[in-house]
Amino acid sequence: MKKKVLITGLNSIIGIEVFRYLSRCTQTQIVVGQRHVPSLPIQDADYRYLDFNDGSTFQEALIGIDTVFLVIPRGIPNIEYSFGTFLSACKAAGVSQVIFSSVYRGKYSFILPHHKVEKLVRKSGIDHIIVQATYFMQNLTTFFKKEIQEDQKIAIPHLSRKVNWIDARNAGDAIVNLIYQFDQYKNQTIPLMGNENKNFMEITAKLTASLPKDVIYNATFKEFISSLKRKGLRYREIGVLLLFMVLEKLDPKLEIYPNYEKITGKKPTRLIEFIMRHLHDLEPSSN
Ligand SMILES: NC(=O)c1ccc[n+]([C@@H]2O[C@H](COP(=O)([O-])OP(=O)(O)OC[C@H]3O[C@@H](n4cnc5c(N)ncnc54)[C@H](OP(=O)(O)O)[C@@H]3O)[C@@H](O)[C@H]2O)c1
Repeated sequence: MKKKVLITGLNSIIGIEVFRYLSRCTQTQIVVGQRHVPSLPIQDADYRYLDFNDGSTFQEALIGIDTVFLVIPRGIPNIEYSFGTFLSACKAAGVSQVIFSSVYRGKYSFILPHHKVEKLVRKSGIDHIIVQATYFMQNLTTFFKKEIQEDQKIAIPHLSRKVNWIDARNAGDAIVNLIYQFDQYKNQTIPLMGNENKNFMEITAKLTASLPKDVIYNATFKEFISSLKRKGLRYREIGVLLLFMVLEKLDPKLEIYPNYEKITGKKPTRLIEFIMRHLHDLEPSSN
């Protein structure tokens, strides 16, 4: 019988990539759980209504599910309650595996909501794998896309700290491998990283080298906050993000764990490869 995998957060950066790789596995029946019917070819996945803010939708969404791929979407006001209830419903429904997409564990990531959900997953009594991916390259083609295209500028304050960049496609590929090598990694927390630690000066230099106009980064904190508000972040989210950025600067150590290679046997995407793949998303809109 086919393994039934519920993908939550299909349209998130990582959800799309997990779907991309999982849909190639013929031993899997994909079920998408979210509030809107996804625009996918009908033969590729079943759809069930799921709203993390409404516990009454959990039971039906989880019928017959073996594995849940769990994402925290934005806009969940009471994360601990919603995800605690959801994980209890998973247990009651007989879900045997949960793969939770968390964020990379820096020294200060305990201030992020993902940390609370990690604790809930570990306490749930369900076998799980917690995946902690670093900074997605796709932030350039989603979060920063409009300003790169329109202003050739990334609105981020001058913070020289390097971050590790991973292609979400690589993360999706690794997660699907983990679904099929579950026992080997069961109840572990796996950092997923690319091979490059780069700051925004280095990123804009690479963009400038690849695009027809120079791309710069720099913004005052006021400009940065305005840009976050334009992108739809609420004041609470902005506060947590700013605090996180300031705290992270205090911890410059960033060791690279080659788990992507270990799990998939492949080399991670390089930033320049990612930029070349997405030139059409980044080229100046006025060109
Ligand atoms: N490491 C990184 O660089 C990085 C970058 C970005 C995000 N992230 C993390 O990745 C996660 C996803 O963020 P994202 O911005 O990519 O995606 P997102 O916009 O937060 O999530 C969109 C997806 O979640 C579903 N969704 C939204 N509200 C829902 C609800 N109440 N109940 C059920 N499903 C719901 C949406 O479908 P419906 O609207 O149809 O329900 C859609 O499929 C977050 O935890 C974020 O912190 C990490």
